[in-house]
Amino acid sequence: MKRIGILTAGGDTPALNATIHGAVVRANQLRVEVYGLLKGFNSLFNPRVPHVHLNPLFQAIPELDATMGGTILGASRDYLNPEDRKSLNEITDRLRRLKIEGLICIGGDGTVNGMQPLTERLPTVLAPKTIDNDLGLNYRNEPEEWQRKPSPPRGSWRYERTPSRTVFDLEQMINYVTPGFATAVFVSTSGIERVRTTAESHRRIAIIEVMGRHSGFIALGSMYGQPDFILVPESPVDCDLLADRVKELYELQKNVVIVCGEGIVDADGNELGAEKASTDPAGNKLLSGAAEALRRHLIRRIGDDFFRMRRRGTKAEEAIFTRKVGHTQRGGRPLLFDRFYAAQLGGKAMDILLEGQNNAVAILQWNRSQGFHVSSIEGNSFRDKWGLIHARTVHPSFYDQELMKPSRVGIEYLLKIFTRAIGSDDVEYVRQKLFDSGNLTEPYHSVNTDIAKRIRYL
Ligand code: F6P
Repeated sequence: MKRIGILTAGGDTPALNATIHGAVVRANQLRVEVYGLLKGFNSLFNPRVPHVHLNPLFQAIPELDATMGGTILGASRDYLNPEDRKSLNEITDRLRRLKIEGLICIGGDGTVNGMQPLTERLPTVLAPKTIDNDLGLNYRNEPEEWQRKPSPPRGSWRYERTPSRTVFDLEQMINYVTPGFATAVFVSTSGIERVRTTAESHRRIAIIEVMGRHSGFIALGSMYGQPDFILVPESPVDCDLLADRVKELYELQKNVVIVCGEGIVDADGNELGAEKASTDPAGNKLLSGAAEALRRHLIRRIGDDFFRMRRRGTKAEEAIFTRKVGHTQRGGRPLLFDRFYAAQLGGKAMDILLEGQNNAVAILQWNRSQGFHVSSIEGNSFRDKWGLIHARTVHPSFYDQELMKPSRVGIEYLLKIFTRAIGSDDVEYVRQKLFDSGNLTEPYHSVNTDIAKRIRYL
């Protein structure tokens, strides 16, 4: 191949530029031109296919900085519809006219699905990314454990797991961890540390909501911030038990910090965050979020008297507060761990594409003898028997339901990732850049301004 395309699809992560950089460095060595397609699959829907030549004369353009969060190519959640043959034909024709012979998509489970129709038309591979850490398998045969049952409305299905017959071992995980996850945990952990001291001072109960959709990896990793309880979507929340434990601990230390994943569910499997509790001025129902729903449960169960009797204000409402870590988890400078392995995965994706693989995924493996190393796997390995890719969830052995904290195995899992995740340059960056006097006088210079000057069209 002489020219390949690369795009970043789905929600961004701090490590996307590092992955693109790793792919471009490898392409330079192999004398392959790399065209970056703008805003994910969106570029392909545009008849002019906006793109940027990322390595003129086989040198990476200076805007491509592996230490910068986000993606210089832009991202979107646009995907190809496999049924839409007309659009697919047009896209194939555009790529052919652009002389693009293969494609690297940087994305998560949605992207593996999204790129599927393209793999029938040109070699396409995936370099993984997602802060949720949900593109992967806990073990090789995990997709086979899914069953589906008819569910209303007619023609829909409900997917359920059958009991596992596998003895879990960390070495068997497929795609142990995805780039972006470590930085997201770093951000949530720093937030928890900060919320703790203010909760301590004001004798309050804090509920901190972290991202991750239906997977509790970010919540689990947030244990580094030493919250008192962690609630993951994989384990239904027993609100009565939680309220009792919170009261017990509050008696002792006069503050409590709870971390919850945004997708936590109640005993009936209903998402707490999807509860419609309030209405806006126009009377529309508002979605409240997991932490807010949990707060209402605790206010009801703990009650005002509990705080009044201890002279900690008059209302439970005042004592129990929530914070979402939000999009700060997805942005900013990536940690060393993310940068390093994101770049390796980008390079690996380039290698497997040029080796002639198609519909394959570059993965990051871990084992006791080699530690972390990159490898690749067939994209279909992630699919169940109906072709669906399910988000990887936290394996039950990672979480202690009784303590509401990571179990011993969960701790083992985290240690591999985080023990040396922060580089000395990550620390030095804060020292040098945060209070740089120039920040006070110079407006922010967006990389988009520079990239705009490099955009070319078909
Ligand atoms: O999938 C990544 C993720 O950050 C989730 O953790 C989160 O639920 C979602 O994306 C947020 O998406 P958006 O930025 O579109 O609100």
